[in-house]
Amino acid sequence: MTATLITGIGELTTNVARDGDALGTLRDAAVLLEGDRIAWVGPASDAPLAGGVRTVDAGGRAVIPGFVDSHTHLVFGGDRTDEFEARMMGTPYAAGGIRRTVAATRAASDEELRARLKGFTRELHAQGTTTFEVKTGYGLTVADEARLARIAAEATSEVTYLGAHVVPAEYADRREEYVDLVCDEMLRACAPHVRWIDVFCERGAFTPEESRRILAAGVAHGLLPRVHGNQLGPGGGVQLAVAMGAASVDHCTYLSDEDVAALAAGDTVATLLPGVEFSTRQPYPDARRLLDAGVTVALASDCNPGSSFTSSMPLMIALAVREMGLTPAEAVWAATAGGARALRRTDVGALAPGTRADLVMLDAPTRVHLAYRPGVPLVHGVWLGGDRL
Ligand code: NIG
Ligand code: FE
Repeated sequence: MTATLITGIGELTTNVARDGDALGTLRDAAVLLEGDRIAWVGPASDAPLAGGVRTVDAGGRAVIPGFVDSHTHLVFGGDRTDEFEARMMGTPYAAGGIRRTVAATRAASDEELRARLKGFTRELHAQGTTTFEVKTGYGLTVADEARLARIAAEATSEVTYLGAHVVPAEYADRREEYVDLVCDEMLRACAPHVRWIDVFCERGAFTPEESRRILAAGVAHGLLPRVHGNQLGPGGGVQLAVAMGAASVDHCTYLSDEDVAALAAGDTVATLLPGVEFSTRQPYPDARRLLDAGVTVALASDCNPGSSFTSSMPLMIALAVREMGLTPAEAVWAATAGGARALRRTDVGALAPGTRADLVMLDAPTRVHLAYRPGVPLVHGVWLGGDRL
């Protein structure tokens, strides 16, 4: 078993809360990686010395857990550059653009989709993301959704079935029939490859009643629910997610006081996706309001060709701090431990004995630089399952 001792860490974020510090920050620290797990964490002066251990000197740099991006849509064909350009000239974002990516995805071969996903995986890793979720949702036929689920499962264990992304054009006049398909044959074809079921509960996509039925069908097949909600306007997505015990409700751009109260009373994570507001010119969600109410907040990229074509978690952190009222520490927590909560994972998002050896060394003395130096590539090194990438 290979072992690596990373020592000389100026600031180590463990996310193991201690002394009122949710990020469990250690100075002058060291971490021992054994196989794919963390074996030991502590002050550099106490680091266990053993033969056969490779030593890496961090030179005072900061180390954080690898980012956990709990929301992406990375299996798709084509792109929508033209829509983005039009939006920047004033055309509003509309969920209907999803159907254009559906057409391009159906036309793409498995090999094209797989190669693209591999490229995105490299892109994510290079920016410090070590765990990521991928959704289906650009196939919307039984065969296409199943192949997207299969291809996504080659890249990650966190695959989400999103047959309920929009009603595809060919079912425009038969939406009930489409909901039946999503709840039955399509679900059965996708379930073997996925862990999660998601639904876009929004005006122009699926109603709260349809969404409830779809999630319940998934739960009956052993899938865990999560929801896209309250992105384009107020609606029932958040309340539905909390009522169904969903792990996460994502977007949360338009929230009523009742929505915030429901989130605070339940254990559904509010996952905020500031890349969407950045790329669609919508108002940013008020993360401060959620944290002050006691809601668990995660940050994710929502990387997709329509509303947020970025895979950069450092950018999400910078936006959350600059535009959404989070402190740098809260934003780093939300992009690591928060993402892990949104995926109901306890083995990632923190650095402690027994967690996965997934971590990022920053070319900076502190994690604060992720927000302080926006747009600067600060990832010095990434360890994934104990191996340096
Ligand atoms: O999370 N909200 C729904 N789905 C995506 C957008 C997909 C698209 O525009 O292609 C989202 O923002
Ligand atoms: Fe999304």
